[in-house]
Amino acid sequence: MAPARFPESFLWGAATAAYQIEGAVSEDGRGESIWDRFSHTPGKTFQGQTGDVACDHYHRYREDVALMRDLGLRSYRFSVAWPRVMPQGSGRVNSPGLDFYERLVDELLDARIVPVATLYHWDLPQPLQDGGGWQNRDTARYFADYAETVFRRLADRVALWITHNEPWVASFVGHATGEHAPGLRDDRAAVQVSHHLLLSHAEAVRVFADYRGSGGAIGITLIQYPCHSYTDRAEDREAARLADGHFNRWFLDPVLTGSYPQDMIEQYDRLGWGPEIRAEDAESIRRASIDFLGVNYYFRRLIRAPGSTARLFETVEPQADAPGLTAMGWEIHPEGLYEALIRIHREYPRVPLYVTENGAAFEDRPDSDGRIRDQERVEYLRGHFLQAHRAMAEGVDLRGYQVWSLYDNFEWAYGYAKRFGIVHVDFHTQDRSWKQSAEWYREVIAGNGF
Ligand code: FCB
Repeated sequence: MAPARFPESFLWGAATAAYQIEGAVSEDGRGESIWDRFSHTPGKTFQGQTGDVACDHYHRYREDVALMRDLGLRSYRFSVAWPRVMPQGSGRVNSPGLDFYERLVDELLDARIVPVATLYHWDLPQPLQDGGGWQNRDTARYFADYAETVFRRLADRVALWITHNEPWVASFVGHATGEHAPGLRDDRAAVQVSHHLLLSHAEAVRVFADYRGSGGAIGITLIQYPCHSYTDRAEDREAARLADGHFNRWFLDPVLTGSYPQDMIEQYDRLGWGPEIRAEDAESIRRASIDFLGVNYYFRRLIRAPGSTARLFETVEPQADAPGLTAMGWEIHPEGLYEALIRIHREYPRVPLYVTENGAAFEDRPDSDGRIRDQERVEYLRGHFLQAHRAMAEGVDLRGYQVWSLYDNFEWAYGYAKRFGIVHVDFHTQDRSWKQSAEWYREVIAGNGF
C-alpha cells in the first residue's frame, strides 16, 4: 500500500467533553446541569451511572496534559461546562469555574498543544431547563452571554472555538427519542430546539466579532450521517433524500448558506413540527458566517420509506450480530467519512474543515500481561484516516483530525459500559494506560502518516 502522507501543519488531536471526563460536579461553585439531573434519575443511564467522578480530569488535568504531550498530540478538543462558568445559566459568573479552563489552556499551551474549545457539549445549566431549556428562545441569548464571558477570558489563547457539538443529537436525541437529557419525547419540540440552537450559534458568532483581533477562529461541529437508500425503489430513494434533509441539510444549509432548506420547512410544517422562526432570527442566521466547520462522523444510515405518512423515513438498523459492527452496534463504514467530506466540499461554499470526532467503542480485553492490544481500533482509525486522506487528495481542505476519544469515559446513556478511548481508564483507581491504538497513533502523528 502507498504510504499516506498528511500536510506538515495537519492538526492531529483527540477530543473529549466536560461531562464525560471532568467529574468534580459540585466543586468550586459548579451548578447542576441537565446531565446531572438526567443521570441521577432512575432508569435513564446504564446501571444508573453518572458523571459524578468520571475520569476525575478536573483534578488530574496536569497529568492528563502530560500524557497528551507524550502522545505527541498537536491539538486537544475539550468542552467548557456552562454550569461551571454560570451556575444559574445566566447572570452571575463563577470565576473559579473559568479559572479551571484557564489553567487547562495554559497547561496545553506550555505543552505546545493547540486548544480547541467547544462551548456547548450538551450540559445545559438545569435552572435554564427549568425555564424551558432550548425550547425557550431566551436560552439563545443566555448562550451568547455565556459565550462572551468565556471569550473575554480565553479568546487570546484558544485557537479554535466550536459553538455547538452536534446540534442534531442535542435536539432530537434529547427532545424526540428522549435517550439523552433532558429526556423529552416530542418531535415538534425537537425541531424548535434545533432552531434555537442554530440561533444561539449565530448569536455567539456575532459576539465573537469583538474578539477576532487575537487571531482565533470560530465554527460549529455537525454530525454527518450519509443516508443511503435501502433499495432502489423510488419511495426509498425519496425517503433517503428526506433523511439527509433531516440529519444533515437542516444544519449544513443555515450554517454554510445562511438559510434553512425550503423542502424541509415544508415537510416539518406538513407533520405539524414546523418551528417558529422570527424574521430577526433568520436575519441573524443569515449574517453568521463561520471560519471553519467541524465534522463528526461515526456511521451511515440505511433508509427506507416510512410505514406511515406521519414520519419522513425509517432507518434500517444493522442486525445486532452482523459482522463489521462496533460495540455500539454501529456499522464500520469508513467510506462514509469520504462521502461526507466530499459532499460538503462540492455542495457548499468552501470553508476549512476539521474532523472533530471519529472513533469507535470495542470490547477491549487486556492480554495476560495486562496490555490492551486493540487491533480493531487501530484498523478502524487507519481505515478512516485513509478516507480522509483520499478526500484531501481530491481537493478537500481538511486541516485536522481529532480522534474520539482520548480516554474511556462516561458514554452518556451507556455510562461506562462503552469504551471509546485510545487510553484505557480504570474507573476504580483512575489509572490511565495506553492501548495499542495510542502507541500506533503516536507513530502516525510523529511521521505525519503511515
Ligand atoms: C458523539 C458525541 C460524543 C461521544 C461520541 C461517541 O455523538 O459528540 O460525546 O459520545 O458520540
